[in-house]
Amino acid sequence: MPVITCIEDLRQLAQRRVPRMFYDYADSGSWTESTYRANESDFRGIKLRQRVAVNMENRSTATTMVGQAVSMPVALAPTGLTGMQHADGEILAAQAAEAFGVPFTLSTMSICSIEDVAARTSKPFWFQLYVMKDRGFIERLIDRARAARCSALVLTLDLQILGQRHKDLKNGLSAPPKPTLANLLNLATKPRWCLGMLGTPRRQFGNIVGHVKGVDDMSSLSDWAAKQFDPALSWDDVAWIKQRWGGKLILKGIQDVEDARLAVQSGADALVVSNHGGRQLDGAESSIRALPAIVDAVGSEIEVHMDGGIRSGQDVLKAWALGARGCYIGRAFLYGLGAMGGPGVTKVLEIIHKELDLSMAFCGRTRITDVDQSILLK
Ligand code: GLV
Repeated sequence: MPVITCIEDLRQLAQRRVPRMFYDYADSGSWTESTYRANESDFRGIKLRQRVAVNMENRSTATTMVGQAVSMPVALAPTGLTGMQHADGEILAAQAAEAFGVPFTLSTMSICSIEDVAARTSKPFWFQLYVMKDRGFIERLIDRARAARCSALVLTLDLQILGQRHKDLKNGLSAPPKPTLANLLNLATKPRWCLGMLGTPRRQFGNIVGHVKGVDDMSSLSDWAAKQFDPALSWDDVAWIKQRWGGKLILKGIQDVEDARLAVQSGADALVVSNHGGRQLDGAESSIRALPAIVDAVGSEIEVHMDGGIRSGQDVLKAWALGARGCYIGRAFLYGLGAMGGPGVTKVLEIIHKELDLSMAFCGRTRITDVDQSILLK
Protein backbone atom coordinates (compact mmCIF):
# COMPACT_ATOMS: atom_id res chain seq x y z
CA MET A 1 0.00 0.00 0.00
CA PRO A 2 1.57 3.34 -0.99
CA VAL A 3 1.84 6.09 1.65
CA ILE A 4 -1.09 8.46 1.04
CA THR A 5 -0.20 12.10 1.66
CA CYS A 6 -2.49 14.13 -0.60
CA ILE A 7 -5.70 14.02 -2.63
CA GLU A 8 -3.74 13.31 -5.83
CA ASP A 9 -2.49 10.02 -4.32
CA LEU A 10 -6.10 8.96 -3.77
CA ARG A 11 -7.10 10.04 -7.28
CA GLN A 12 -4.46 7.78 -8.77
CA LEU A 13 -5.55 4.86 -6.61
CA ALA A 14 -9.21 5.42 -7.49
CA GLN A 15 -8.36 5.47 -11.18
CA ARG A 16 -6.87 1.99 -10.80
CA ARG A 17 -9.71 0.57 -8.71
CA VAL A 18 -12.94 2.05 -10.11
CA PRO A 19 -14.37 0.84 -13.46
CA ARG A 20 -13.53 3.30 -16.20
CA MET A 21 -17.15 4.30 -16.85
CA PHE A 22 -17.63 5.53 -13.27
CA TYR A 23 -14.16 6.95 -12.75
CA ASP A 24 -14.57 8.97 -15.95
CA TYR A 25 -18.04 10.12 -14.90
CA ALA A 26 -16.54 11.72 -11.79
CA ASP A 27 -13.30 12.95 -13.26
CA SER A 28 -14.48 14.86 -16.29
CA GLY A 29 -16.03 18.11 -17.38
CA SER A 30 -18.18 19.13 -20.32
CA TRP A 31 -16.89 19.70 -23.86
CA THR A 32 -13.24 20.89 -23.79
CA GLU A 33 -13.12 20.74 -19.97
CA SER A 34 -11.63 24.26 -19.85
CA THR A 35 -13.86 25.36 -16.95
CA TYR A 36 -13.23 22.09 -15.13
CA ARG A 37 -9.45 22.67 -15.39
CA ALA A 38 -9.70 26.39 -14.55
CA ASN A 39 -11.56 25.59 -11.32
CA GLU A 40 -8.38 23.93 -10.06
CA SER A 41 -5.67 25.98 -11.75
CA ASP A 42 -7.06 29.41 -10.78
CA PHE A 43 -6.48 28.54 -7.12
CA ARG A 44 -2.76 28.31 -7.86
CA GLY A 45 -2.62 31.96 -8.93
CA ILE A 46 -3.74 33.14 -5.48
CA LYS A 47 -0.80 33.63 -3.12
CA LEU A 48 -0.78 33.49 0.67
CA ARG A 49 1.14 35.85 3.00
CA GLN A 50 3.42 33.97 5.36
CA ARG A 51 3.78 35.45 8.86
CA VAL A 52 6.24 34.39 11.59
CA ALA A 53 6.71 34.67 15.34
CA VAL A 54 2.96 34.70 15.93
CA ASN A 55 1.69 32.41 18.69
CA MET A 56 0.21 29.45 16.81
CA GLU A 57 -1.09 27.47 19.79
CA ASN A 58 -4.73 26.52 20.33
CA ARG A 59 -5.98 26.62 16.77
CA SER A 60 -9.52 26.01 15.57
CA THR A 61 -11.08 25.52 12.15
CA ALA A 62 -14.57 25.18 13.62
CA THR A 63 -17.39 27.40 12.41
CA THR A 64 -21.01 27.07 11.26
CA MET A 65 -22.71 26.52 7.90
CA VAL A 66 -26.37 27.63 7.72
CA GLY A 67 -26.32 27.78 11.50
CA GLN A 68 -25.05 24.22 11.96
CA ALA A 69 -21.76 23.54 13.76
CA VAL A 70 -18.99 22.15 11.53
CA SER A 71 -15.44 21.13 12.46
CA MET A 72 -14.18 22.94 9.35
CA PRO A 73 -15.96 24.93 6.61
CA VAL A 74 -16.23 21.94 4.29
CA ALA A 75 -19.20 19.83 3.21
CA LEU A 76 -19.35 16.74 1.03
CA ALA A 77 -20.93 17.84 -2.25
CA PRO A 78 -23.91 16.07 -3.76
CA THR A 79 -22.49 13.78 -6.44
CA GLY A 80 -24.47 11.44 -8.68
CA LEU A 81 -23.81 7.67 -8.72
CA THR A 82 -21.62 7.79 -5.62
CA GLY A 83 -22.60 4.21 -4.85
CA MET A 84 -20.98 3.21 -8.13
CA GLN A 85 -17.56 4.53 -7.12
CA HIS A 86 -17.67 1.97 -4.30
CA ALA A 87 -20.40 -0.37 -3.06
CA ASP A 88 -22.73 1.47 -0.62
CA GLY A 89 -20.76 4.65 -1.33
CA GLU A 90 -23.29 7.17 -0.06
CA ILE A 91 -23.71 5.36 3.26
CA LEU A 92 -19.94 5.09 3.76
CA ALA A 93 -19.36 8.75 2.88
CA ALA A 94 -22.21 9.94 5.10
CA GLN A 95 -20.81 7.96 8.03
CA ALA A 96 -17.31 9.38 7.48
CA ALA A 97 -18.67 12.94 7.28
CA GLU A 98 -20.75 12.47 10.41
CA ALA A 99 -17.76 11.19 12.40
CA PHE A 100 -15.67 14.16 11.19
CA GLY A 101 -18.32 16.75 11.98
CA VAL A 102 -18.99 18.04 8.46
CA PRO A 103 -22.22 17.88 6.43
CA PHE A 104 -22.85 15.14 3.90
CA THR A 105 -25.14 16.05 0.98
CA LEU A 106 -27.07 13.20 -0.61
CA SER A 107 -27.76 13.65 -4.33
CA THR A 108 -31.15 13.01 -5.91
CA MET A 109 -29.12 10.82 -8.31
CA SER A 110 -27.66 8.67 -5.53
CA ILE A 111 -27.55 4.89 -5.49
CA CYS A 112 -28.40 4.50 -1.78
CA SER A 113 -31.80 6.02 -1.02
CA ILE A 114 -32.62 8.80 1.46
CA GLU A 115 -34.20 6.27 3.81
CA ASP A 116 -31.25 3.91 3.54
CA VAL A 117 -28.72 6.63 4.43
CA ALA A 118 -30.93 7.90 7.27
CA ALA A 119 -31.19 4.40 8.75
CA ARG A 120 -27.40 4.04 8.81
CA THR A 121 -26.41 7.46 10.21
CA SER A 122 -27.31 9.11 13.49
CA LYS A 123 -27.00 12.82 12.67
CA PRO A 124 -28.99 14.71 10.04
CA PHE A 125 -27.48 15.00 6.57
CA TRP A 126 -28.41 17.38 3.72
CA PHE A 127 -30.43 16.45 0.68
CA GLN A 128 -29.86 17.82 -2.84
CA LEU A 129 -32.85 18.24 -5.09
CA TYR A 130 -33.04 18.24 -8.87
CA VAL A 131 -36.25 19.62 -10.29
CA MET A 132 -37.81 17.10 -12.65
CA LYS A 133 -40.85 17.46 -14.84
CA ASP A 134 -42.86 15.14 -12.62
CA ARG A 135 -43.76 17.62 -9.81
CA GLY A 136 -45.55 14.92 -7.85
CA PHE A 137 -42.23 13.09 -7.62
CA ILE A 138 -40.52 16.28 -6.41
CA GLU A 139 -43.15 16.75 -3.72
CA ARG A 140 -42.65 13.20 -2.55
CA LEU A 141 -38.86 13.63 -2.54
CA ILE A 142 -39.14 16.78 -0.41
CA ASP A 143 -41.47 14.97 1.99
CA ARG A 144 -39.12 11.98 2.14
CA ALA A 145 -36.16 14.27 2.92
CA ARG A 146 -38.17 15.88 5.72
CA ALA A 147 -39.26 12.51 7.10
CA ALA A 148 -35.59 11.42 7.08
CA ARG A 149 -34.79 14.55 9.20
CA CYS A 150 -32.49 16.10 6.60
CA SER A 151 -31.34 19.43 8.03
CA ALA A 152 -30.93 21.40 4.77
CA LEU A 153 -32.21 21.18 1.23
CA VAL A 154 -29.66 21.98 -1.48
CA LEU A 155 -31.59 22.96 -4.59
CA THR A 156 -29.53 22.68 -7.78
CA LEU A 157 -30.38 25.39 -10.31
CA ASP A 158 -27.79 24.81 -13.02
CA LEU A 159 -28.88 21.47 -14.42
CA GLN A 160 -32.13 22.15 -16.24
CA ILE A 161 -30.40 20.67 -19.25
CA LEU A 162 -27.29 18.50 -19.31
CA GLY A 163 -23.89 19.72 -20.55
CA GLN A 164 -22.35 17.22 -22.91
CA ARG A 165 -19.62 15.10 -21.37
CA HIS A 166 -17.81 13.31 -24.14
CA LYS A 167 -16.48 10.46 -22.01
CA ASP A 168 -19.92 9.52 -20.66
CA LEU A 169 -21.29 9.23 -24.18
CA LYS A 170 -18.32 7.22 -25.36
CA ASN A 171 -18.51 4.91 -22.32
CA GLY A 172 -22.31 4.49 -22.60
CA LEU A 173 -22.66 5.46 -18.93
CA SER A 174 -25.47 3.61 -17.17
CA ALA A 175 -26.09 2.17 -13.71
CA PRO A 176 -25.52 -0.73 -13.51
CA PRO A 177 -23.07 -0.93 -16.45
CA LYS A 178 -24.32 -2.65 -19.58
CA PRO A 179 -22.62 -6.04 -20.15
CA THR A 180 -20.80 -5.03 -23.34
CA LEU A 181 -17.48 -6.69 -24.13
CA ALA A 182 -15.56 -3.47 -23.38
CA ASN A 183 -17.29 -3.11 -20.01
CA LEU A 184 -16.77 -6.75 -19.07
CA LEU A 185 -13.08 -6.60 -19.97
CA ASN A 186 -12.69 -3.45 -17.89
CA LEU A 187 -14.62 -4.91 -14.93
CA ALA A 188 -12.35 -7.98 -15.00
CA THR A 189 -9.47 -5.68 -13.99
CA LYS A 190 -11.39 -4.33 -10.94
CA PRO A 191 -11.91 -7.39 -8.68
CA ARG A 192 -12.24 -5.38 -5.45
CA TRP A 193 -14.99 -3.21 -6.91
CA CYS A 194 -16.83 -6.25 -8.33
CA LEU A 195 -16.67 -8.08 -5.02
CA GLY A 196 -18.14 -5.08 -3.22
CA MET A 197 -20.94 -4.75 -5.75
CA LEU A 198 -21.79 -8.44 -5.53
CA GLY A 199 -22.16 -8.01 -1.79
CA THR A 200 -24.72 -5.17 -1.91
CA PRO A 201 -28.29 -4.94 -3.21
CA ARG A 202 -27.76 -1.20 -3.96
CA ARG A 203 -27.02 -0.94 -7.67
CA GLN A 204 -29.77 1.34 -9.01
CA PHE A 205 -30.83 4.94 -8.40
CA GLY A 206 -32.32 4.36 -4.96
CA ASN A 207 -34.35 7.59 -4.81
CA ILE A 208 -35.91 7.09 -8.21
CA VAL A 209 -36.34 3.48 -9.33
CA GLY A 210 -39.67 2.31 -7.96
CA HIS A 211 -40.72 5.91 -7.12
CA VAL A 212 -41.37 7.22 -10.64
CA LYS A 213 -43.92 5.58 -12.89
CA GLY A 214 -42.29 3.85 -15.86
CA VAL A 215 -38.71 4.15 -14.59
CA ASP A 216 -37.36 0.66 -13.98
CA ASP A 217 -33.83 1.06 -15.20
CA MET A 218 -31.51 3.65 -16.68
CA SER A 219 -30.95 2.88 -20.34
CA SER A 220 -28.40 5.66 -20.55
CA LEU A 221 -27.97 8.42 -18.04
CA SER A 222 -27.84 11.19 -20.62
CA ASP A 223 -31.06 10.00 -22.35
CA TRP A 224 -32.79 9.74 -19.02
CA ALA A 225 -31.67 13.18 -17.84
CA ALA A 226 -32.78 14.70 -21.14
CA LYS A 227 -36.27 13.30 -20.57
CA GLN A 228 -36.69 13.97 -16.86
CA PHE A 229 -34.88 17.21 -15.92
CA ASP A 230 -37.10 20.25 -16.27
CA PRO A 231 -35.80 22.88 -18.72
CA ALA A 232 -38.64 25.21 -17.63
CA LEU A 233 -37.40 25.54 -14.01
CA SER A 234 -37.98 29.13 -12.77
CA TRP A 235 -37.72 31.30 -9.66
CA ASP A 236 -41.44 30.57 -9.08
CA ASP A 237 -40.48 26.93 -8.62
CA VAL A 238 -37.82 28.02 -6.11
CA ALA A 239 -40.52 29.87 -4.13
CA TRP A 240 -42.81 26.84 -4.27
CA ILE A 241 -40.05 24.46 -3.14
CA LYS A 242 -39.00 26.82 -0.33
CA GLN A 243 -42.54 26.86 0.97
CA ARG A 244 -43.07 23.12 0.66
CA TRP A 245 -39.73 22.34 2.36
CA GLY A 246 -39.98 24.92 5.15
CA GLY A 247 -36.39 24.33 6.41
CA LYS A 248 -32.91 25.60 5.58
CA LEU A 249 -32.59 26.16 1.84
CA ILE A 250 -29.31 26.38 -0.09
CA LEU A 251 -29.34 27.38 -3.78
CA LYS A 252 -26.57 25.74 -5.77
CA GLY A 253 -25.21 26.76 -9.15
CA ILE A 254 -24.96 30.56 -8.98
CA GLN A 255 -22.23 32.13 -11.12
CA ASP A 256 -23.61 35.57 -11.87
CA VAL A 257 -24.16 38.61 -9.64
CA GLU A 258 -27.70 39.17 -10.98
CA ASP A 259 -28.67 35.59 -10.14
CA ALA A 260 -27.07 36.02 -6.72
CA ARG A 261 -29.37 39.03 -6.10
CA LEU A 262 -32.38 36.93 -7.14
CA ALA A 263 -31.21 34.22 -4.75
CA VAL A 264 -31.24 36.80 -1.93
CA GLN A 265 -34.76 37.89 -2.92
CA SER A 266 -35.92 34.27 -2.82
CA GLY A 267 -35.21 34.22 0.91
CA ALA A 268 -32.81 31.24 0.72
CA ASP A 269 -30.37 30.77 3.60
CA ALA A 270 -27.26 30.30 1.44
CA LEU A 271 -26.12 30.16 -2.16
CA VAL A 272 -23.34 28.09 -3.66
CA VAL A 273 -21.11 29.74 -6.24
CA SER A 274 -20.71 26.80 -8.59
CA ASN A 275 -20.36 25.84 -12.23
CA HIS A 276 -21.21 22.23 -11.39
CA GLY A 277 -17.57 21.24 -11.33
CA GLY A 278 -17.10 22.41 -14.91
CA ARG A 279 -19.68 19.84 -16.05
CA GLN A 280 -22.25 22.25 -17.51
CA LEU A 281 -21.30 25.50 -19.29
CA ASP A 282 -17.79 24.96 -20.60
CA GLY A 283 -16.27 28.42 -20.93
CA ALA A 284 -17.83 29.71 -17.70
CA GLU A 285 -15.52 31.44 -15.24
CA SER A 286 -13.89 29.29 -12.55
CA SER A 287 -15.78 29.38 -9.24
CA ILE A 288 -12.91 30.96 -7.31
CA ARG A 289 -12.81 33.83 -9.84
CA ALA A 290 -16.59 34.26 -9.78
CA LEU A 291 -16.68 34.30 -5.97
CA PRO A 292 -15.37 37.80 -5.02
CA ALA A 293 -17.92 39.78 -7.08
CA ILE A 294 -20.78 37.72 -5.63
CA VAL A 295 -19.49 38.15 -2.08
CA ASP A 296 -19.17 41.90 -2.71
CA ALA A 297 -22.73 42.13 -4.01
CA VAL A 298 -24.62 39.91 -1.55
CA GLY A 299 -22.20 38.59 1.08
CA SER A 300 -23.78 40.67 3.83
CA GLU A 301 -27.31 39.44 3.00
CA ILE A 302 -26.87 35.71 2.43
CA GLU A 303 -24.31 33.07 3.37
CA VAL A 304 -22.07 32.44 0.36
CA HIS A 305 -20.58 28.99 -0.21
CA MET A 306 -18.59 27.70 -3.18
CA ASP A 307 -17.50 24.53 -4.93
CA GLY A 308 -15.28 23.65 -7.85
CA GLY A 309 -11.57 22.80 -7.82
CA ILE A 310 -11.10 22.25 -4.09
CA ARG A 311 -8.27 19.72 -3.80
CA SER A 312 -6.56 20.89 -0.61
CA GLY A 313 -6.93 22.73 2.67
CA GLN A 314 -5.01 25.62 1.12
CA ASP A 315 -7.86 25.94 -1.40
CA VAL A 316 -10.42 26.02 1.43
CA LEU A 317 -8.36 28.73 3.18
CA LYS A 318 -8.16 30.87 0.01
CA ALA A 319 -11.89 30.51 -0.65
CA TRP A 320 -12.66 31.45 2.95
CA ALA A 321 -10.36 34.51 2.69
CA LEU A 322 -12.33 35.60 -0.39
CA GLY A 323 -15.60 35.31 1.51
CA ALA A 324 -16.83 31.71 1.08
CA ARG A 325 -18.30 30.55 4.39
CA GLY A 326 -18.12 26.94 3.25
CA CYS A 327 -16.61 24.85 0.47
CA TYR A 328 -18.04 21.65 -1.00
CA ILE A 329 -15.74 18.85 -2.06
CA GLY A 330 -17.03 16.51 -4.77
CA ARG A 331 -14.28 14.81 -6.73
CA ALA A 332 -11.86 15.00 -3.81
CA PHE A 333 -14.08 12.79 -1.65
CA LEU A 334 -15.01 10.51 -4.56
CA TYR A 335 -11.32 9.77 -5.11
CA GLY A 336 -10.98 8.71 -1.49
CA LEU A 337 -14.13 6.61 -1.69
CA GLY A 338 -13.12 4.91 -4.93
CA ALA A 339 -9.62 4.28 -3.62
CA MET A 340 -10.41 2.93 -0.14
CA GLY A 341 -14.14 3.07 0.64
CA GLY A 342 -15.22 4.75 3.92
CA PRO A 343 -11.67 5.01 5.37
CA GLY A 344 -10.68 6.76 2.13
CA VAL A 345 -13.28 9.48 2.72
CA THR A 346 -12.02 9.90 6.29
CA LYS A 347 -8.50 10.17 4.88
CA VAL A 348 -9.63 12.95 2.51
CA LEU A 349 -11.16 14.90 5.39
CA GLU A 350 -8.04 14.41 7.53
CA ILE A 351 -5.75 15.56 4.71
CA ILE A 352 -7.81 18.67 3.98
CA HIS A 353 -8.22 19.52 7.65
CA LYS A 354 -4.50 19.23 8.33
CA GLU A 355 -3.62 21.33 5.29
CA LEU A 356 -6.15 23.97 6.30
CA ASP A 357 -5.02 24.07 9.93
CA LEU A 358 -1.28 24.32 9.17
CA SER A 359 -1.67 26.82 6.31
CA MET A 360 -3.88 29.03 8.47
CA ALA A 361 -1.16 28.97 11.14
CA PHE A 362 1.59 29.80 8.62
CA CYS A 363 -0.49 32.86 7.71
CA GLY A 364 -0.39 33.88 11.38
CA ARG A 365 -4.01 33.03 12.30
CA THR A 366 -5.27 30.56 14.86
CA ARG A 367 -9.02 30.67 14.17
CA ILE A 368 -10.64 30.29 10.78
CA THR A 369 -13.28 32.77 11.86
CA ASP A 370 -10.53 35.43 12.17
CA VAL A 371 -9.24 34.85 8.63
CA ASP A 372 -10.02 37.52 6.05
CA GLN A 373 -8.62 38.86 2.77
CA SER A 374 -5.56 40.26 4.49
CA ILE A 375 -3.92 36.80 4.42
CA LEU A 376 -3.75 37.06 0.62
CA LEU A 377 -1.03 38.84 -1.33
CA LYS A 378 -2.56 41.61 -3.45
C1 GLV B 1 -25.05 15.48 -12.08
O1 GLV B 1 -25.70 14.59 -11.63
C2 GLV B 1 -23.89 15.42 -12.88
O2 GLV B 1 -23.64 14.37 -13.48
O3 GLV B 1 -23.16 16.42 -12.94
